[in-house]
Amino acid sequence: MSDTGAEQCSSCQSKNSAACDTCSSKGNTGQTEQQVKISKNLGAIRHRIAIVSGKGGVGKSTVTAGIAYNLAKSGFKVGILDADVSGPNIPHLLNVEAEKMQVSQEGLLPVVAAYGIKIASAESLIESSDTPIVWRGPMRSSLINQFLADMQWGELDFLLVDLPPGTGDEPLSIMQTIPLTGLVIVSTPSSLSILDVSKIINMAKTMNVRVLGLVENMAYYECPGCREKVYPFGDGKVRELAGKYDLSFLGQLPLDPMNSGKDVIVSDESPAARMAEEITGKILKSL
Ligand SMILES: Nc1ncnc2c1ncn2[C@@H]1O[C@H](COP(=O)(O)OP(=O)(O)OP(=O)(O)O)[C@@H](O)[C@H]1O
Ligand SMILES: [Mg+2]
Ligand SMILES: [Zn+2]
Repeated sequence: MSDTGAEQCSSCQSKNSAACDTCSSKGNTGQTEQQVKISKNLGAIRHRIAIVSGKGGVGKSTVTAGIAYNLAKSGFKVGILDADVSGPNIPHLLNVEAEKMQVSQEGLLPVVAAYGIKIASAESLIESSDTPIVWRGPMRSSLINQFLADMQWGELDFLLVDLPPGTGDEPLSIMQTIPLTGLVIVSTPSSLSILDVSKIINMAKTMNVRVLGLVENMAYYECPGCREKVYPFGDGKVRELAGKYDLSFLGQLPLDPMNSGKDVIVSDESPAARMAEEITGKILKSL
């Protein structure tokens, strides 16, 4: 027993931790513990899919909610990790923005939406949706890791990860932390969005993450009179891009005039909802 009363180094057990300067894991004990929790949590989840895009505002969160909704409706156990800490939207899209995450003895409890969809989101931590979250990258990543380590997801068939746009901190840290089944890439047919998708595809290659396919959102508009499809940016741009990189094209979602931020996924009748169902079917086949 040490007469200084200092704790033993938890790794080598031979010296007190303050004096142990040879042990390589010194100071990393907390991180290791979190990593162990994350692995254990993720071990109970069959498929882990991240939804990404090059540009912002192209419909990642809408598509994530749509896929989750359709998977859960078909009987799968689904969770969503809203990894957009600065701009969390998932609870709003799934009509549970008023609910707050609870803490139990075992850890954090996700908010539960329609068909049992479990949600971890920064939106469920803040007082009201118009409160800004002004955190720097490392704090955002640390919240995401806490969601992964301490959230009581239970057994899941799918964990969908809704990411902020681009190739910044969160996409990088998610690709490093979660052994992903694959990525779903969302793009609009506008030329800048298309251009930035190439960066995501190359990032996925570098990180050795499989791309399950590309979704084209806001691809066309259906005339309410004659039902003719109008393609404001031209038809086939995202499909072409998928072909260029030898990736699957998962489908086109129309610009839905009825969409109020929610209708796209909670109404089973809208054209976009029907397409989301088809896209979900293709993702299931790709697994
Ligand atoms: N197919 C669609 N038809 C009409 N509106 C849509 C469609 N898809 C998305 N929107 C709307 O466009 C806006 C942006 O969509 P969303 O938030 O899903 O994009 P995002 O890529 O997640 O954005 P961010 O990069 O900010 O996270 C939202 O107001 C959403 O309701
Ligand atoms: Mg979003
Ligand atoms: Zn018409």
